[in-house]
Amino acid sequence: PVQPTREDKFTFGLWTIGWQARDAFGDATRPELDPVEAVHKLSELGAYGLTFHDDDLIPFGSDAATRDSILAGFKKALEETGLVVPMVTTNTFTHPVFKDGAFTSNDRSVRRYALRKILRQVDLAAELGAKTFVLWGGREGAEYDVAKDIYAALDRYREGLNLLAQYSEDKGYGLRFAIEPKPNEPRGDILLPTLGHAIAFTNELERPELFGINPEVGHEQMSNLNFFQGIAQALWHKKLFHIDLNGQHSVKFDQDLVFGHGDLLNAFALVDLLENGPVGGGPKYDGPRHFDYKPSRTEDFTGVWESAKANMRMYLLLKERAQEFRADPVVQAALAESKVLDLAQPTLNAGETYQDLLADKSAWEDFDVDAVGAQGYGFVKLHQLAIDHVLRAS
Ligand code: GCO
Ligand code: MN
Ligand code: MN
Ligand code: MN
Repeated sequence: PVQPTREDKFTFGLWTIGWQARDAFGDATRPELDPVEAVHKLSELGAYGLTFHDDDLIPFGSDAATRDSILAGFKKALEETGLVVPMVTTNTFTHPVFKDGAFTSNDRSVRRYALRKILRQVDLAAELGAKTFVLWGGREGAEYDVAKDIYAALDRYREGLNLLAQYSEDKGYGLRFAIEPKPNEPRGDILLPTLGHAIAFTNELERPELFGINPEVGHEQMSNLNFFQGIAQALWHKKLFHIDLNGQHSVKFDQDLVFGHGDLLNAFALVDLLENGPVGGGPKYDGPRHFDYKPSRTEDFTGVWESAKANMRMYLLLKERAQEFRADPVVQAALAESKVLDLAQPTLNAGETYQDLLADKSAWEDFDVDAVGAQGYGFVKLHQLAIDHVLRAS
């Protein structure tokens, strides 16, 4: 029952399974992974697609002939397997030239170079049929408050994103752009640190409808935020263009664990929301279920593929539990008892005005605040029912 299929729309970043496990303290523990092999292996495991930064596929600085030959081999693997590339992104963080950022580097020549690198990847996105273009500004930030004019940096960020949208529209690519927030790492502090900052920013762009977000589980949790709540708000703003699923144990360095291997209960609520929509009705997420994690440094390639499978398994197990949870009459009764479903009902009646409200004695004069204040909501019982379902105890 937990065998992934293409319909599950599971996608992986080439940089995830291909991570050689080089970290700030140690060398690589795994050899390079051939992208063609990655395509075939992911296909065997039941994935739907894969995503990549320009440099994951075509090493930085490759000449035109090398680029063409790598692309040809990659496209052939896609054709052979039927795997798709629904999203691509650009590496504007590894090379030293980006050490002070790309869109927002203090050095104008770096900003111009970065735009060229990103536009080149926009062309490749269109060529491969990608629908979403992710922008993770890992180096857009600072270690020292006095070293970055944040006001000007946001102007330059906006200038760059407006240019990308204009280019994509002029070329007829029809891409949608998704900003990926992260609070810190590799910079001391990163611009657009949370999904809330990023959503607010998209509304200041020339074509806000082309811009949304790509939130990552661990990145919000690094800021001690509730990812499930954040995703619900992103859906509400119609800004959930893409999602990076992984695991994190609260506020520490970016752990990039397997999905569900961090806060399991929050992952359950998340899958329930993505798959079944808000409990009182509302939109579901229908984009790729994208895993952006790092197979731990301790693992060899057997462990890498086990971890890839674990991501999909976690998602499908939670999806199964969420379906059972929603269908359980005991849960339905508990939801009703807790008035969870009542929240979908507007606070005023249809056509009711504030004059009507002011005239309604039951809302004030006759309202028994003490009696209503004394009622229990039964939330703990409801939460325990959810855990019972996660643990298959019911
Ligand atoms: C991280 C980020 C990155 C980005 C990726 C896309 O873990 O810090 O998730 O992995 O998602 O680089 O550009
Ligand atoms: Mn991460
Ligand atoms: Mn990510
Ligand atoms: Mn990542």
